Amino acid sequence: MDFVESKFVKEVSEITDNMYHQGWDERNGGNISYLIDEQFVREYFPKDVFLRDLELGFTADEVLRNKYFLVTGTGKYFKNVIKDPENNLGLVKIDSDGHTAHLLWGYRDGGRMTSEFPAHLMSHAVRFKANPNNRVIMHTHPTYTICMGACLPTDEVVFTRKLWKSNTEAVVVFPEGVGVLPCMVCGTNEIGMATAEKMKEHRIVTWTNHGIYGAGNDIDEAFGLIETVEKTAQIYMLTLGHVVNEIPDEVIIGLAKLWNLKMMPGVIEEK
Ligand code: 13P
Ligand code: ZN
Repeated sequence: MDFVESKFVKEVSEITDNMYHQGWDERNGGNISYLIDEQFVREYFPKDVFLRDLELGFTADEVLRNKYFLVTGTGKYFKNVIKDPENNLGLVKIDSDGHTAHLLWGYRDGGRMTSEFPAHLMSHAVRFKANPNNRVIMHTHPTYTICMGACLPTDEVVFTRKLWKSNTEAVVVFPEGVGVLPCMVCGTNEIGMATAEKMKEHRIVTWTNHGIYGAGNDIDEAFGLIETVEKTAQIYMLTLGHVVNEIPDEVIIGLAKLWNLKMMPGVIEEK
């Protein structure tokens, strides 16, 4: 079977289409990277034959060397992935010294990995060490999450508290809270390192005035985290200045107890 028919390409094509229709991924906004285990790569590529080499511009962590990633291309539009995956996606193998990505498939028009690949790979390394089942890093520009970040101080305790107090699902889906970065120049190693640092404690990190990163064991999990933050941010923004019924701290504590969750410290005071 051709790799274009694989479940991996299908999953990324379907989710990018979905995200485009959410209105989150204007133009080339957003990017996804998906770690694919070698055993699955071998079903389509019995041995490694590389089309070309792409410099990373940073050194990939040792845990990612010789690993394969399906990655959206820089400048490519999410709305177009489903129509032409082989041009808009690429399958790369990180080489053994961590400096180069070898291209096995995709980027047909001469393209390369997303400009946010530093943030993706650095986040993959941190999440993989925390949880060896992590496979997906997803970045997107959800409207209400960006609005909310513009209205609050860049403080993850404040941001997390506002989310937890707006939607009872929020603490259940992300009890470890949301990491928050200030507005920074994107596409750099610096924002990559800052994102990865936050990913040590959180599976979700917001980039103020820009968007959000989510990590997960699969596409559904990463998407589900982002979609829950975005839905909650929508509730927060639509009710801002009108709230009569805010979720009481005791209910948030009750939910955490019911689901046996370890809450991000400092957000809700346990009485
Ligand atoms: P790329 O087109 O390089 O993936 O960049 C899109 C984006 O969202 C930048 O943050
Ligand atoms: Zn972006």
